Amino acid sequence: MIASFKGITALVTGASSGIGKALARELAGQGAHLILVSRNVQRLEQEAEDLKIRFGVKVDVFPADLSLPDNCQKLFEFTASNRLVVDVLVNNAGLAHYGPFEETSFEKTSAMLDLNIHALTHLTRLFLPGMLERKSGGILNVASTAGFQPIPRLNVYAATKAFVLNFSEALWAECKDLGVRVFCLCPGNTLTRFHQSAGIDRQRMFFSASALDVARFALRKFLKTSQPSGIYGFWNKMMIYTERLAPRRAVVFFTNLMYRPGAKRKESSAK
Ligand SMILES: NC(=O)c1ccc[n+]([C@@H]2O[C@H](COP(=O)([O-])OP(=O)(O)OC[C@H]3O[C@@H](n4cnc5c(N)ncnc54)[C@H](OP(=O)(O)O)[C@@H]3O)[C@@H](O)[C@H]2O)c1
Repeated sequence: MIASFKGITALVTGASSGIGKALARELAGQGAHLILVSRNVQRLEQEAEDLKIRFGVKVDVFPADLSLPDNCQKLFEFTASNRLVVDVLVNNAGLAHYGPFEETSFEKTSAMLDLNIHALTHLTRLFLPGMLERKSGGILNVASTAGFQPIPRLNVYAATKAFVLNFSEALWAECKDLGVRVFCLCPGNTLTRFHQSAGIDRQRMFFSASALDVARFALRKFLKTSQPSGIYGFWNKMMIYTERLAPRRAVVFFTNLMYRPGAKRKESSAK
């Protein structure tokens, strides 16, 4: 089983921003070579240069929209043709759309399913066999505390994260005695571009974390924990553990209140 990131190669999706960027930096800081993937080529190349200079690691970039068919296969072929052995796959890229289900275009919903579920599953299918053959490496999937809760107006997003969580935990059980680590990170609100891109009013969010703290937690747990998944942060854990004991109706009542349109935290509306 992989015991450190020194000298390994990690492929990080969604590495141009937020949690993915923080994960890539932490991995480089711990001596990992990287393959960075996201759509924005300029951000990727800038980040790659920075990581090479600061940490002396090798960094390749693969700009691609992973929600489009074929791009996962092309990414796999890019690694094969460049003789890049992916020891750790970080399936982090993900997006959300805030709003009533029927008011969100199906094009947007479909792209979210393609990225959050299809690309993550396809990349896992492509890279896992090599890890199993080598009996080393692993997969770090990024779900969310949303994966534990039905969330009105983030309906499909929360459901995609429930998929990621369940899929990853099942995979953990399949791989744990075969030398391959699987860990599912469940962050709560984290300060990234995510909320703005999703159209979520961040003022209503409680206890937001920094992407760096979330990334450090994820990498520490990936190497050390015997659990298949981990929720970042005390208050996020309290919320999810409490909800487990509550009737499902009460859980949806709570999330509906949290994510109601125009909802503001008391202190921000009092200003
Ligand atoms: N922030 C939170 O509060 C929070 C909480 C729980 C879970 N999460 C999860 O954490 C993960 C990272 O989100 P974040 O908060 O770091 O958000 P972010 O700052 O918006 O980063 C998202 C990353 O995904 C990439 N991306 C988006 N669409 C893509 C596509 N079609 N193909 C390839 N790359 C794509 C983006 O880069 P480009 O724009 O360059 O493509 C960016 O690098 C997501 O899976 C999210 O669901 C976030």
